Amino acid sequence: MKILVIGSGGREHALAWRLVQSQRVSHVFVAPGNAGMALEEGVHCVPLQGIEAWLEFAQTEQIAFTVVGPEAPIADGIVDHFRAAGLAIFGPSQAAAQLEISKDFAKQFMQRHNIPTARFTTFEDAVSAHAYLDQVGAPIVIKADGLAAGKGVVVAQTVAEAHQAVDHMMGGALGQAGHRVVIEEFLEGEEASFIVMADGEQVLPLATSQDHKRLRDHDEGPNTGGMGAYSPAPLVTPTLHGRIMREIIQPTLQGLIQEGRPYTGFLYAGLMIAPDGSVKTLEFNCRLGDPETQPLLMRLKSDLVELIEAALHGKLQHAMAEWDRRPAIGIVLAAPGYPESPITGGIISGLDRPLADTHVFYAGAQAQGQHMVTAGGRVLCVTALGDTLRTARHLAYERVQHIHFDGMQYRQDIGWRALKSHP
Ligand code: AMP
Ligand code: GLY
Repeated sequence: MKILVIGSGGREHALAWRLVQSQRVSHVFVAPGNAGMALEEGVHCVPLQGIEAWLEFAQTEQIAFTVVGPEAPIADGIVDHFRAAGLAIFGPSQAAAQLEISKDFAKQFMQRHNIPTARFTTFEDAVSAHAYLDQVGAPIVIKADGLAAGKGVVVAQTVAEAHQAVDHMMGGALGQAGHRVVIEEFLEGEEASFIVMADGEQVLPLATSQDHKRLRDHDEGPNTGGMGAYSPAPLVTPTLHGRIMREIIQPTLQGLIQEGRPYTGFLYAGLMIAPDGSVKTLEFNCRLGDPETQPLLMRLKSDLVELIEAALHGKLQHAMAEWDRRPAIGIVLAAPGYPESPITGGIISGLDRPLADTHVFYAGAQAQGQHMVTAGGRVLCVTALGDTLRTARHLAYERVQHIHFDGMQYRQDIGWRALKSHP
C-alpha cells in the first residue's frame, strides 16, 4: 500500500515515520517533504507543490489514502478536490475547517453551541476597535480573523500594546487575514492541547499533550509555532478529560453536523484550564499540532494506518488507540533569528549519533552536498521516550548535546510545568 502525506515539517516527518512502520505499507511519499525524512526507509519525498500536482500524483501512483499535515492546503480546499476526484483523503473539508480558517467563525460557532470560550467582540474597523480597547483596558487579547501562520495573536499586557496590535493587524501587516480582528477576554490558567480523530460523527481522542509557545526559558520571549512538547499532559486528569469531551469536543462535532459541515480529520483544540478546573477553548486547528505530534506519535503503539482507515470508513467507534505508558518529550532546535527572520544555511552536525528511545524529526533541513543544512525556522525536533517524564527529558537533552549548528536556539526547560506539579 502506498500513502501520500502533504507537508514538509517535523509533524509530517513523524506521520511518515509512523505510517511506514505499518506492515501493510510499502511506500510513504511526502510532498514536498524534506531531506531529513527521506533518510527513513520507505519514505520518499516528491518535489511537488499545489493541489493539482498532488492530485495527479495520487492518481498515477494509486495512493491508498492521503493525509494532510498543515492547515494551508486544507484552507485551499485540498480535501474537497480529492474527494470530488474519488480519492481517499484524511482531513476536513474547507467548510468544516472554517473552525481554524476564521477566528470569528469559530467564536460565533462556539457561542451558538454553548461551547465554553473567552468572551469576545469582532471588529471590522480600527476606530471602533480602538474605542473598545480604551473602554475595557488590559490585559486583553487581539486576534486576526484569518490564517496568519502563528503571527495572528497578541496577548497585550497594556492598552498601548493592544492599540499597537490593532494598528499592526488592521493596517495590513497580515494582509487579508487582519482586516477583521477578534478582541477577547484574557484568560488565566494553564494550556493543554487536546487532539482527536474524527470520522464525521464519532471521535477518537488521542493522548493528551502540552506545548511551549514562547521562544525562551520561563515562557519568555515572543510566541513561536512551538518550542517543545510532551505527552501525556498530567494536568488533564481523567475527570477533566471527561469534561473536555462532554463540554467541548462532542458539542463541536455535533454542531458541525447540525450545520451541514461534518468534520473528518484531526481536530486540535487549544484549551485553557482555569485554576478552578473549568475549561475554555482558546482555538481550534484543523490539523495535528507541531511539535505535539512528534512525542504523541512516539507513544502510539496502534497501527496508524488502521486508525485512519477506520476514520475514513466512518468506523471510529470500533477503533482503539493504544499508547506506550511511557511519557515522551520533544525539544525543538531552531535557527538563529527564529521566529522573526530565521537565518538558514548552517551546517548541521552530530546527527549520526543515535541513542535508544530517541528519534530526531526533521523540519527546516535540506541536503547540500555531503551535509545537511538548516533551511527553516524550526530545524529539528529531538524526541525521546522514558519511564518518567524526567528520564525522557534527560535522554532528549543528552541527544541534543551532540547536535550543533551555528546559532542553534532551544529551550532548556521543556516539560517544566509537568515536572513542577508531578515531580
Ligand atoms: P491561539 O492561536 O488562539 O491559540 O493563540 C495563541 C496563544 O495565545 C495561545 O496558545 C495562548 O498562549 C495565547 N492566548 C490566546 N487566547 C488567549 C486568551 N483569551 N487568554 C490568554 N491567552 C490567550
Ligand atoms: N504547536 C501548536 C500548533 O501546532 O498550533
